[in-house]
Amino acid sequence: MESSVISVPVGAAAAKRAGYLRAYYGSTVGKKQVMAVTGVIMVLFVIGHMIGNLQVYLGAESLNHYAELLRALGHGGLIWVVRGLLLAAVVLHIWSATALTLGSWAARPIGYRHRQRWIESTYASRTMRWGGPILLLFIIYHLLHFTTGTLHGDFVTGDVYHNVVAGFSIWWVSAIYIFAQLVLGLHLYHGAWSMLQTLGLSHASYDRLRAGLAIFVAFVVAAANISIPLAVLTGVVS
Ligand code: HEM
Repeated sequence: MESSVISVPVGAAAAKRAGYLRAYYGSTVGKKQVMAVTGVIMVLFVIGHMIGNLQVYLGAESLNHYAELLRALGHGGLIWVVRGLLLAAVVLHIWSATALTLGSWAARPIGYRHRQRWIESTYASRTMRWGGPILLLFIIYHLLHFTTGTLHGDFVTGDVYHNVVAGFSIWWVSAIYIFAQLVLGLHLYHGAWSMLQTLGLSHASYDRLRAGLAIFVAFVVAAANISIPLAVLTGVVS
């Protein structure tokens, strides 16, 4: 008897909390905030990964030692925490993007849809909807290429430097990476711009600052990553 008296308010509170959560995630603002927060997590990863990738210019020992260090952090546990966080961020990001896209298609007025859409959107924002799926395909290819070695003709476990040089020596593999980094640059540019707006920098007086930051991050990441396959193809890194 006693337990049922206690469980009613606890159950009611939990149901109320679940209701709030559903209402929050069901709203457009809620989904945009989920996209922004998961976007921050992924941008931080991409910047960190880019800095790590640049170790290729310091030579085989540096890059391999760095990769080994990352794998050993927290007795080998930290990498799994980061992988789990990234996976959750990717899933929630795609989920929210799909829901927002389907919602905006459903609300779109029929008739003058073409002109209206092209006037209101920038080139970078139009690329968001096809950029996301391209980047997802790239990440799947990339993991099968450099992490598991499944799609790498000459993969040596633990020798990251060798894997990068051998991988990018094939011109079409480099071309896939360069194309993906250009798509990533556009995605980062518009993503960072929207993310900063959603997270509070929305006043018009911040527009220049937002645009500057977005262009800076997008350009640096794309240029640094593209430099690596180019350096291998031109023999600067071998
Ligand atoms: C030219 C650009 C890039 C190069 C040279 C590169 C290189 C590498 C290499 C060598 C690995 C394997 C590291 C290891 O086994 O220790 C790796 C893993 C990974 N890369 Fe990249 N990468 C590039 C771009 C990207 C981009 C743009 C993304 C995401 C958008 C990305 C996401 C990942 C992820 C998620 C992993 C797996 C990390 C893990 O859990 O072990 N990479 N990358």
